[in-house]
Amino acid sequence: MRLVVRRWKEGWRAPRYDVFEVEADPSESVLDLVERVSLKLDPTLTFEHACHHGVCGACGMVVNGVERLTCVTRVGDVARNGVILVEPLHGFKVVSDLVVDKSRMFSRYPDDTRTLERVAAQVEKLWDCVECGICYSACPVACSYPSYLGPSVLAWAFHRAVEEGRVPAPVASRSGVWSCHAAFDCSEKCPVNFQPGEKIMRLRRLLLRGAVEVV
Ligand code: SF4
Ligand code: FES
Repeated sequence: MRLVVRRWKEGWRAPRYDVFEVEADPSESVLDLVERVSLKLDPTLTFEHACHHGVCGACGMVVNGVERLTCVTRVGDVARNGVILVEPLHGFKVVSDLVVDKSRMFSRYPDDTRTLERVAAQVEKLWDCVECGICYSACPVACSYPSYLGPSVLAWAFHRAVEEGRVPAPVASRSGVWSCHAAFDCSEKCPVNFQPGEKIMRLRRLLLRGAVEVV
């Protein structure tokens, strides 16, 4: 198996593609291959992972052109002629190799200063969305318009709107639901079927009907 990895580290003028020959079983995960390369062939290869169960959202990468959680993506399902190309998620600043800075997404979740509500909100958020960033990478608007709040944040705002009858002003602004092009790539690629695209459309309808307050 050939694992081709898009690499970039601070100080490099341009990214490069490294090719690694690795033993692989079709039932293994793509993350297993990346880990094997890092352990046995190139310890400088950097990537993120934690749970290996599709729960933590850390291992999202673009695999042969498609955003995936690599720990639950089997080699046999994605290899093309014995080749797998892995790249960092689009739409985020690359920190090193396959590691991206997702603060663009995390910093925009609606904050709430009331502790109990915030804890409850975090629990619900984690129950549904694994915060992998795949929807940002798949979204043509998020990749080209840095101010766009992004699919998962707007989907989260929809849940808050239903519960509380209000949304923060940026959600109803040009950076929010009105910039969505309804491409639905976010929903197609989301590994947990959180359906951010559909929720953005439902939030638009609530706003158009005046059913939620903008605060
Ligand atoms: S909505 Fe889906 S794709 Fe987007 S961050 Fe959450 S789990 Fe990942
Ligand atoms: S390592 Fe946690 S989702 Fe893949």
